[in-house]
Amino acid sequence: MVYNREAGKKLAVKHLSGFSSEYMMMKLQHSFDVGEFAYKVAARIKKMHPACHVDAELAGFLGYVHDIGRARNNHLHELHTIDMLVEEGIDRDIARMAMHSQLLEQYGEKEGDVQKYLPVGIEGMILTYADMVVKTGSPISIDERVADVAERTRKSRQMNPELIREILESLPRAVRRFKRYERIVFLLAGVGSAKEFI
Ligand SMILES: [Fe+2]
Repeated sequence: MVYNREAGKKLAVKHLSGFSSEYMMMKLQHSFDVGEFAYKVAARIKKMHPACHVDAELAGFLGYVHDIGRARNNHLHELHTIDMLVEEGIDRDIARMAMHSQLLEQYGEKEGDVQKYLPVGIEGMILTYADMVVKTGSPISIDERVADVAERTRKSRQMNPELIREILESLPRAVRRFKRYERIVFLLAGVGSAKEFI
């Protein structure tokens, strides 16, 4: 299988369309937009540093597929995504690259295994960054994106109070990590803001 945006889009449509809820339709659009943005970021870094061999299409693929686990369960959807990609016949090492979000701070630190939740490679780091600045459409700041996530988490009727508390407690530490990724991405791409990728 070739890991590119086209293949990622097919998997996103297969697993995230067909839900009637506005939330899931928004998640499909989010996946498209994260995929395209991750591709642009990776392509720019590739152009700036050809010797780094950044795989821009792989970064795009990861963006398109990163949330398919939500079709199974929103809670720990990051791990469901990896399982579902493996079930699709994708090599586990590639599937593992779809890891994203704040699970490292929410679970990894307590479990003494942050490795399990760390992004893999520059493409994995770009995915985490892209997911944290794109809801749908153009990128916003990490602070704006995280404020929106926190607001929806606080209001959630699907999550129990303990899970809501865990997420809100781990988010500030995760934000520090996301901002480190942003600084690395900007430095590598030679940009000063996310808008320059558009
Ligand atoms: Fe996402």
